[in-house]
Amino acid sequence: MYTEKVMDHFEHPRNVGEIENPSGMGTVGNAKCGDIMRIYLDIDENQVIQDVKFKTFGCGAAVATSSMATEMVKGKTVQEAMSVTNKAVCEALDGLPPVKIHCSLLAEEAIHAALWDYAQKNGIEIEGLEKPKSDISEEEEDEEY
Ligand code: FES
Repeated sequence: MYTEKVMDHFEHPRNVGEIENPSGMGTVGNAKCGDIMRIYLDIDENQVIQDVKFKTFGCGAAVATSSMATEMVKGKTVQEAMSVTNKAVCEALDGLPPVKIHCSLLAEEAIHAALWDYAQKNGIEIEGLEKPKSDISEEEEDEEY
C-alpha cells in the first residue's frame, strides 16, 4: 500500500523535534482525523531556511510527508519554499494512497502557517502565501494526485 520512500520516511523521519526561539512556527489541525502538526523554521537574514523541525500527533502518512517536506524546504528561500506543495511532496514520495492525501496537506499547511508567522513578525510579504486556515476543508480531500 505504501511506497518504499514513504516507509523509509515513516520509519526514519528526518527533522523531528523543535527549535527554540524559531523564526516562524505554525500549528495546524486536520478536521478529518483530528491530527495535529507543528512546524518550526529557523530563517536567516537572507530569508533562507537554515533549519526546520516538526512535531506531530499524526498518522504514518503525516509523519512521512512532513519528513519529506522538511527535507525539501531546508536550504530554500522562504519564497522558494512556496513551491513545496503537498503535490510535490507526494510525488517525491512516489505517491500516497488517495485516502491518505489529506494527511499530506497537513505538512503543507503547517509550513505555510510557519512562513506566515515569520512574515508577520518581520513585516515581509511572501508571494502566494495566504493567511493559514486552522483546519483543512472537506473539498480538498477529493483532489487526486
Ligand atoms: Fe490524520 Fe493521517 S489520518 S493525518
